[in-house]
Amino acid sequence: MSEVDLELDFSGRTVLVVGGSSGIGNGIAHEFHTRGAQVHVWGTRAGAQDYAGSAGSDLEGLGYTQVDVSDPDAIAAAPLPFDTLDVLVLSQGTVLYKRQEFERVGWDEVMAINLDSVLHCARRFEQQLESSRGSVIVVSSIAAYMATVGTPAYAASKAGAVSLTRTLGQAWAPRGIRVNGIAPGMVETKLTAITTEHPQRRERALSKIPLGRFGLPADMAGVALFLASPLSAYVTGQTIVVDGGLTL
Ligand SMILES: NC(=O)c1ccc[n+]([C@@H]2O[C@H](COP(=O)([O-])OP(=O)(O)OC[C@H]3O[C@@H](n4cnc5c(N)ncnc54)[C@H](OP(=O)(O)O)[C@@H]3O)[C@@H](O)[C@H]2O)c1
Repeated sequence: MSEVDLELDFSGRTVLVVGGSSGIGNGIAHEFHTRGAQVHVWGTRAGAQDYAGSAGSDLEGLGYTQVDVSDPDAIAAAPLPFDTLDVLVLSQGTVLYKRQEFERVGWDEVMAINLDSVLHCARRFEQQLESSRGSVIVVSSIAAYMATVGTPAYAASKAGAVSLTRTLGQAWAPRGIRVNGIAPGMVETKLTAITTEHPQRRERALSKIPLGRFGLPADMAGVALFLASPLSAYVTGQTIVVDGGLTL
């Protein structure tokens, strides 16, 4: 094994991916599992069997718990999946269209899931992460850095997640916990189906990506592995844009 392979070997490590039941989080969960980690995911459905046949959801080899992260009490009460925790990935997220995010109910829902729960989940596992000198990876979005059409809570929540990544990175560094983030561009998941499954919107979106393709969950997973590994031992509080050049 090369030096780099060794640093990306997660055998004996434990990983929890919140929002690991689908899409980007699910891809990240499998990448850690492939590299030897014990991986547990949280999602919204009652049981792992409820994801059978859903595109972008493969729970084979992963532990699963239903936790509605819009409810801080549910996060506090969720069972700890492992005695120790090395890596916490926060990939939960939602978006509401048709101007729902301009209304109070829609705003509150998106902020609760995309921003508030990032802090609540991180705090839930603070002790375990300190014991393992572990790391947190927050999946935000390039929406953190720009205006988005019709989804003010999504953009604000993601800007908040980037900010929280910085502040937690600073606050927890003395305790040996690194906190970093990934800001994906456009990845085909159920969250983006409104664009990717509409022929004209799909073409328009693709034409704006210098690397000429949508991102894959595996593209995000590669960066997550790096951020959880000793290769990034001196990086904290940073969010890496992974967008095929879209924001250039
Ligand atoms: N796809 C993109 O182009 C893109 C771009 C930038 C950023 N992102 C971010 O990437 C992250 C993952 O999104 P995705 O594209 O992979 O979409 P996705 O496939 O819809 O995944 C979202 C995940 O969040 C979970 N989730 C949503 N609401 C929840 C709640 N109340 N409680 C617990 N879990 C909840 C979902 O659970 P279920 O599986 O049960 O629904 C799912 O596991 C999000 O933070 C998103 O904002 C995505």
